[in-house]
Amino acid sequence: MKSIVILISGRGSNMEAIVQAAIPGARIAAVISNRPNAGGLAFAAAQGIATAVVDHTAYAERAAFDAALAEAIDSHAPDLVVLAGFMRVLTPGFVRQYEGRLINIHPSLLPSFTGLHTHQRALEAGVRVHGTTVHFVTAELDCGPIIIQAVVPVMAGDDEATLSARVLAQEHRIFPQAVRWIVEDRVSIDGNVARVAGVREPGVLISPPPENV
Ligand code: GRF
Repeated sequence: MKSIVILISGRGSNMEAIVQAAIPGARIAAVISNRPNAGGLAFAAAQGIATAVVDHTAYAERAAFDAALAEAIDSHAPDLVVLAGFMRVLTPGFVRQYEGRLINIHPSLLPSFTGLHTHQRALEAGVRVHGTTVHFVTAELDCGPIIIQAVVPVMAGDDEATLSARVLAQEHRIFPQAVRWIVEDRVSIDGNVARVAGVREPGVLISPPPENV
């Protein structure tokens, strides 16, 4: 049985998708938030999952926060740490400590649109496709080996709300898929490339084409 700790900062819909996937061989040991009022904490607690808050505002320095966070994580001895809408940049020391067992979901087709406000920036750039990426976390922000991506169309009339909703639906598909592959020991890292054993098309799920095109 693989033990998983999920870190959230807010609503927690990706965490929920992973919990509801009920991945065989995986146990969600804890959900930890850096914000006491994160909506996702209530869902996790209702599922009987241990929850904890490590409030970043209580720490003057990033390194002190990361040390407290690591302590909370390590008390569950996880095989995998999942950043599911966790909105804090982690120190290189923290990332190194969990390298190879720390994954994140980012709401763009990396390496495009690293950082924040990805949907608005995609609209402003006029891209025709957008999407989401699950990747291993490395010291460089949003740059680690890609495990899976999902592509969605950008449609005429889209605004940030409609585009982000279309992407979020795909996040809820690919994140549990990536966790499942890791739990099944199928994912290996080769330089900056993640490989998935025994899957013909390991990288991309394309959302169904919109009906009105
Ligand atoms: C998601 O769009 C994720 O890609 C981004 O933050 C959002 C979190 O949503 N990093 P939720 O908390 O999982 O609902």
